[in-house]
Amino acid sequence: MLKIIKVKNYEEMSKEAAKIIAETVKARPNGVLGLATGSTPIGTYRKLIDMYESGELDFSELTTVNLDEYRGLTGENDQSYYYFMHKNLFDHVNLRKDASFLPDGSKANAQEECKRYEELVKNLGYADLQLLGIGRNGHIGFNEPSDVFEVTTHCVKLTDSTIDANKRFFESESDVPREAYTMGIGTIMHARKILVIASGVDKALAVRDSFFGPVTPKVPASILQFHQDVVVVADEAALSLSN
Ligand code: GLP
Repeated sequence: MLKIIKVKNYEEMSKEAAKIIAETVKARPNGVLGLATGSTPIGTYRKLIDMYESGELDFSELTTVNLDEYRGLTGENDQSYYYFMHKNLFDHVNLRKDASFLPDGSKANAQEECKRYEELVKNLGYADLQLLGIGRNGHIGFNEPSDVFEVTTHCVKLTDSTIDANKRFFESESDVPREAYTMGIGTIMHARKILVIASGVDKALAVRDSFFGPVTPKVPASILQFHQDVVVVADEAALSLSN
């Protein structure tokens, strides 16, 4: 079942998303939380940090898994998702140091790394809740538009649209990695609950095509229409093309 929650703006989206995540963490304090990167979840993480600081939320028994990571970047690189997660969440809450997992961008053998990460997520029992942002082209994680839905963790070549969208974080476009590791569509769909967040007019087309159009690998997020428990928290601008 797909539920859409329309909110006013980014701030309201962040509050609502953090509230939903907090409910899951409180219900299963030793569960698995699936996390995402990008500018969209930063406000949500800020709210979760506030809840931790006020004593409302405890991360001490929780395990986290992240969706994706650039291939070729080590954790020390400030553009890696490892770095992003530490800076925006992990360093500010009481998660155990060995309880947060991401694909390892520094591994030379892509096939082995994909297999290792898929097994790891599977052995954890997959996510209780997976948080997702959405790419301008409807991608989730780094599952780019394609002719097929890739099921398990795999290595992708990033599309020009994604390289263009992500270049703002790098010194120049040529510094943006061309490849990334990402959970597959199947890995994501195994999550018991999926929370999609979207803000801004840049996401309006992706939101419309993902949740109000046909299910197709050309719009990877559209597969979420087949999941039994999806909540989309989107602001007015992101929903401006959807009725
Ligand atoms: C990246 C990430 C996605 C994210 C998307 C949108 O490509 N791999 O997981 O959802 O960007 O990012 P933003 O939230 O910055 O728009």
